[in-house]
Amino acid sequence: MTISLTVVGLGYVGLPLAQEACRSTMKVFGLDVDSAVVAGLSTGHSHIDDLDATDLAEMLAAGFQPTTEPNCIADSDVVVICVPTPLNDNGSPDLNAVKAATRTVSEHLQPGSLVVLESTTYPGTTQDVVRPILEAGSGLTAGDDFSLSYSPERIDPGNPKWGLRNTPKVVGGLTSECTNSAVKFYERFVDTVVPTTGTREAELAKLLENTYRHVNIALMNEMAVFCHELGIDLWAAIEAAETKPFGYEAFYPGPGVGGHCIPIDPNYLSWVVRSVGYRFRLVELAEEISDRMPAYVAQRVQDSLNADRKAVNGAIVLLLGVTYKANVSDQRETPARPLAKHLSKMGADIRFFDPHADTFTFNGLELVGEDDLEESLAKADLAVLVQAHNEIVESGALNRARRILDTRGVLSGDNVERL
Ligand SMILES: NC(=O)c1ccc[n+]([C@@H]2O[C@H](COP(=O)([O-])OP(=O)(O)OC[C@H]3O[C@@H](n4cnc5c(N)ncnc54)[C@H](O)[C@@H]3O)[C@@H](O)[C@H]2O)c1
Repeated sequence: MTISLTVVGLGYVGLPLAQEACRSTMKVFGLDVDSAVVAGLSTGHSHIDDLDATDLAEMLAAGFQPTTEPNCIADSDVVVICVPTPLNDNGSPDLNAVKAATRTVSEHLQPGSLVVLESTTYPGTTQDVVRPILEAGSGLTAGDDFSLSYSPERIDPGNPKWGLRNTPKVVGGLTSECTNSAVKFYERFVDTVVPTTGTREAELAKLLENTYRHVNIALMNEMAVFCHELGIDLWAAIEAAETKPFGYEAFYPGPGVGGHCIPIDPNYLSWVVRSVGYRFRLVELAEEISDRMPAYVAQRVQDSLNADRKAVNGAIVLLLGVTYKANVSDQRETPARPLAKHLSKMGADIRFFDPHADTFTFNGLELVGEDDLEESLAKADLAVLVQAHNEIVESGALNRARRILDTRGVLSGDNVERL
């Protein structure tokens, strides 16, 4: 039976979902409030790294319909909400997009349909925030008249091995029937679907995964600082520890954490923990440690230049890679930004090279990227490898640099110093 799906929110999460659904011969509508995004997609322009024009052409040929008109919800058997969940200025969850999208869904919801929330959020959101809005707007009852579930997205932008289809997908419903209907839906295009007890457990599973990463990255960041003082090569120690076949998973230090997930999601959990009178101290500590890394890297830049009898003030410092992770173009929460702010405060003349970014903004200043890696390395007093994009690491031009501070532990050579 052909089923129809509306994906609400056509970003890094919604678009790959729409793509797999199109491939499984569903009729797919893509609903977004951003008319520029919808216009771009309708004319074959993708704005995310993991989908190119060919992918989009395939989707459009399969009947994919990007739209700003919510009427498509009434024609859909399944509605999946993938809208952003940022933080407010005070660090509390900002669920405005989730609430607005849910209100839209509620106004068009039909009996017998399935609604799934995929946005990352704190445990209780599906049941206590989404459910009442859907019921009030539709006059229907969740669990009786329509199914409601939560399924966390595990997408890893830029990962060539693990995509939506081969990454197991966790699903938790309001009732066991809700869980079953969400499992049946995802089994159409995901190899392994993992049902769990309920919506809260599915919501917590996502936050547990990201908090685990957050805490372990911070552990490595803290160790990087004292290993440098002790003259120990932390990267070699990690490589050695990694040979243990059980009980250890390798994490790596870096210039700070970025992106939409690691710096933000654990705050959703600490916020809900505070509501029951506790502080989530490990998360707070991890945040404090990783937040200090850009300043620490700036300090290491100063130390390196000092070894050449140079001041940071007036030195040309070339940032290699300014996005939040390797091989993607997303600059959200990139650690390159606080690093650039620290270096600029110290008087450095900052330039950048990034094959994934034409411009980079910090302190309200928009820099245009260097277009020749070799030339820009030759001009720089020091280069900092911030993101190990393949094009940079494999370029063969890095030996032109006077000095490189490698914050990713992937380079070697006489001119390279690792974090
Ligand atoms: N990006 C990732 O790697 C990733 C991974 C796992 C989970 N997530 C989670 O998935 C959710 C979505 O993240 P994303 O990275 O895809 O965001 P995004 O910003 O790339 O895309 C979200 C889209 O939703 C649209 N939107 C906002 N409000 C809307 C509304 N009321 N109705 C319809 N569309 C609306 C926006 O215009 C935008 O196009 C977040 O909760 C995020 O934490 C993201």
